[in-house]
Amino acid sequence: MTHEFLEAQAGDLALLVGSDRKRQIVRLGPGQMIQTHRGVLAHDDLIGCPWGSQISSHLGAPFLLLRPSIADLVLHLRRTTQIVYPKEAGRILLKMGIGPGSRVVEAGSGSGGLTLVLAHAVRPDGRVYSYEVRPEMQRLTRKNLERMGLDGVVELRLRDVVEGFEERGVDALFLDLPNPWDYVAQAHAALVNGGHFGAILPTTNQVSTLLTALERHAFGLMEVEENLLRPYKAVPARLRPMDRMVAHTGFLVFARALVVATVHSTKGEADVP
Ligand SMILES: C[S@@+](CC[C@H](N)C(=O)[O-])C[C@H]1O[C@@H](n2cnc3c(N)ncnc32)[C@H](O)[C@@H]1O
Repeated sequence: MTHEFLEAQAGDLALLVGSDRKRQIVRLGPGQMIQTHRGVLAHDDLIGCPWGSQISSHLGAPFLLLRPSIADLVLHLRRTTQIVYPKEAGRILLKMGIGPGSRVVEAGSGSGGLTLVLAHAVRPDGRVYSYEVRPEMQRLTRKNLERMGLDGVVELRLRDVVEGFEERGVDALFLDLPNPWDYVAQAHAALVNGGHFGAILPTTNQVSTLLTALERHAFGLMEVEENLLRPYKAVPARLRPMDRMVAHTGFLVFARALVVATVHSTKGEADVP
């Protein structure tokens, strides 16, 4: 994931895009072949090519050779659960102030979709603590992180979060599991004062239950939102929305962890200059 070289190197992840925009991500290795729906490409022909080059398969079909973005990687990872999609993941990073050096807790790890985005954002000095109750899901997250070279940033914890989080004073904590309202007390205990809480839920009744629990457990500044993404056909002469769109993924809930005691201002009105 470093950007030292202008050409594709052995060991790099490469994104290949056909003229029909079909995408494939591979790790380049000498002597290997890529089977595509439009012919075969030899890794040796790609290694050493500048990123952005056009390469032909043995059938003459053109492919673009590009570095995959983090969104490309998330959409291509192996998954057996619903994942947090890039349109929500980007928003989560911004709303929750997550960046280089942040310490972030998440549950559950699932397929590791959000874990990848968090790990990429907090590098090189931050840390992600990812909780998961099912061993097979933790294995999948570990595999996906290793494939992307991001495993060094993440600590995977196999545990039901009803038992609480090991960490204290974390900057942000995100829950992607069916009943987050059952874990808000544990979340508050792990967060730094004023820290960011976030969750994603598919239905509005779940959101209501979560809001009630947040109010009861010293969270404030609750926000609920839904992000609608309407992609366009990028054709200058016929610029218009795509025929189909994903109408619903989930609702995002954000809140801040408050200190329970209220500090009263010592300044009376008479003191104010
Ligand atoms: C929807 S998936 C998470 C997907 C993940 N955010 C992603 O982007 O790939 C929900 C996960 O939460 C896990 N889970 C559910 N309840 C849990 C609990 N109490 N403690 C830890 N993990 C839990 C499930 O096993 C499942 O893998």
